[in-house]
Amino acid sequence: MALTILKGTILSVPALGRLEVTEHGYLAAEDGRITGVFPVLPERYAGAHVEDFGDALILQAPADMHLHAPQYPMRGMGMDLPLLDWLNTYAFPTEARFADPDYAREVYRRLAHDLIAGGTTRVCMFSSLHREATLILMEELERAGVTGYVGKVNMDRNGAHNLQETTEESMEETLRWLEACQDFRYVRPVVTPRFTPSCTDELMAFLGKLAEERDLPIQSHLSENTAEQAWVCRLHPDCAQYWETYAKYGLWNGRTVMAHCVWCDGRERQAMKDAGVTAVHCPDSNQNLCSGVAPVRVMLREGIRVALGTDTAGGDKVSMLDAASSAIRASKARRILDGWETDFLTAPEAWYLATSAGAAFFGEQPGFAPGNALHALALDDSKLLQPHPLTPEERLERCLYVRQPGAVRAVWSAGRRVFTAKDR
Ligand code: GUN
Ligand code: FE
Repeated sequence: MALTILKGTILSVPALGRLEVTEHGYLAAEDGRITGVFPVLPERYAGAHVEDFGDALILQAPADMHLHAPQYPMRGMGMDLPLLDWLNTYAFPTEARFADPDYAREVYRRLAHDLIAGGTTRVCMFSSLHREATLILMEELERAGVTGYVGKVNMDRNGAHNLQETTEESMEETLRWLEACQDFRYVRPVVTPRFTPSCTDELMAFLGKLAEERDLPIQSHLSENTAEQAWVCRLHPDCAQYWETYAKYGLWNGRTVMAHCVWCDGRERQAMKDAGVTAVHCPDSNQNLCSGVAPVRVMLREGIRVALGTDTAGGDKVSMLDAASSAIRASKARRILDGWETDFLTAPEAWYLATSAGAAFFGEQPGFAPGNALHALALDDSKLLQPHPLTPEERLERCLYVRQPGAVRAVWSAGRRVFTAKDR
């Protein structure tokens, strides 16, 4: 049996806003599965090797529940454009380059490394429409230790001259891609209609049937921007609301992840709740593209599943620690807009959305629950100035905003140590 025992100040969020602290405690895993968090080393582990991280924090590794791998090279570009112009001017031409497998290899190796080095061990990710590049992406993620879902994008209308498939190509390539996905262990396929304007009814119907027959999860975009919403309504006059264009084709259920959900009204949110759809909040992207400010507090209060994503490259940062502080800032903007009636998110709430809420989509229990696969990171904040000795709660809050160079010391993913920082 392989035993991992990590020592440090162990912080976990087993419920929304509930921070559990074990100072100078032990996080143990057997064969990659967590057995518990202990204030003193249990007798049965006496004499076992302990990896001691001293005063460092040991945190749950976050899950980035929405990002676009082929947009990684264009972070911070076109941030003066609204969504639909930004897609046509920046995202589509950039994604078209992934017809070249060598380019895909180079970018995806970097991305996979940067995700792990930042502590992100789980993803729910869009590739481009290219089958070969998508398989290269999956290889590179698996090699680096990133786990989760990756989708070959489907788009058979409203793309670009060099970024669009025929309906038939889209179906055939998706089937061929799914066959090749059997070679992967930690990275699994997710059905990925880009968004309603990108997919004909015939393709949507095919994808819904495929997801059902093969029991696959589904990811797409929902109500990100008001111009997008109006466009969807023009394309589907038979649907009263955006979500119905997915529901109509069997793409709306408890294994569906919908990015953004900025402009969902009460009726659309009720449909999310009823179906168990997960909304992925992407605060940096929503601000960069002037999409709006998602009503996260309202969604949480209504009992909707909410997780967090970077939406790279609508979002400019890959770190989920940054996404968490951005979610706090966005919730403050929402509070101001709502006439001070909604509370902003606390640091433990935002960190819950970044970790346990995303992990739930992969079937894990919240926090460092026994039985969960070990996904953790050791974070060093010893070089930051302190105005007074910080409590663990203050240290968590601060590390969402400020981190020293090389703060992430080590990362474990699915029980394996996948990153060790070089000594500086
Ligand atoms: N909607 C459809 N495609 C995209 C995309 O690539 N990024 C964002 N933010 N929204 C989208
Ligand atoms: Fe997106």
